[in-house]
Amino acid sequence: MESPLEYHDALALLEWQVELGADEAIAEAPVDRFLVSAEAVATQTAPTAPRVQQAAPAVAPKADLDPVAEARKAAARAHDLEALRAEMEGFGHCDLRHGARSFVFSDGTPAARLMIVGEAPGRDEDMQGKPFVGRAGQLLDRMFDAIGMGRDHPDAAQSLYITNILPWRPPQNRDPSPAEMAMMLPFVQRHIELAAPDVVVMMGNISCQGLLGQRGITRLRGTWQEVVGRPALPMFHPAYLLRQPAKKREAWADLLTLKAWLST
Ligand code: URA
Repeated sequence: MESPLEYHDALALLEWQVELGADEAIAEAPVDRFLVSAEAVATQTAPTAPRVQQAAPAVAPKADLDPVAEARKAAARAHDLEALRAEMEGFGHCDLRHGARSFVFSDGTPAARLMIVGEAPGRDEDMQGKPFVGRAGQLLDRMFDAIGMGRDHPDAAQSLYITNILPWRPPQNRDPSPAEMAMMLPFVQRHIELAAPDVVVMMGNISCQGLLGQRGITRLRGTWQEVVGRPALPMFHPAYLLRQPAKKREAWADLLTLKAWLST
């Protein structure tokens, strides 16, 4: 019988593939090519041999579980941010986790008065395990710097706490499906409850869709909403502003609205 691939061999193979330029998962879930080719060999060499019956799965099949109800239970069990991080990291019902390199929970100052909820990690965030660290994240930092705020500012009134609707990068940065958003929403809502910011900023359409159940950021931006019992302001996503620099004027107006709100 073939010996199983050791962890370090598998890691070395993966790193070799990354060096060759294979830096993205292109399927929703990983495919075990060793299993596929072993099955092909078995089929060629013993076409009439009976197929070995797969052992019954140790856990109940996914179809029997309501992932949204499971997420609600897991989120409710968390009584602080570290516990929430652990519950989310251990949540096995969202297949995005299998294609992502990192679990991306949050960055910045948990005690900040302002909490930003973005969409989902992109390539850079998946590599570094932190939200908003790519080009859009750099623009986000510059935007808030312009009103005297930053992720790690020592004053809670000027610091930022940042998370996303999804903690795992969707393959090829596709939009999250409604099912993926619905099952991760109880965690984001609990995240807001536990961080207890004075104000929430929803960055872009996906964030508004998740937290408000509405899209249409052009109409929504700059209008005060309520999320988990807190005032919340939708804003254009910095990735959109990189593509549409003329929209920075409205983003600046929204930043000034936030600054005025925080100084009252
Ligand atoms: N865009 C987001 O919405 N979140 C990130 O973390 C990065 C890019």
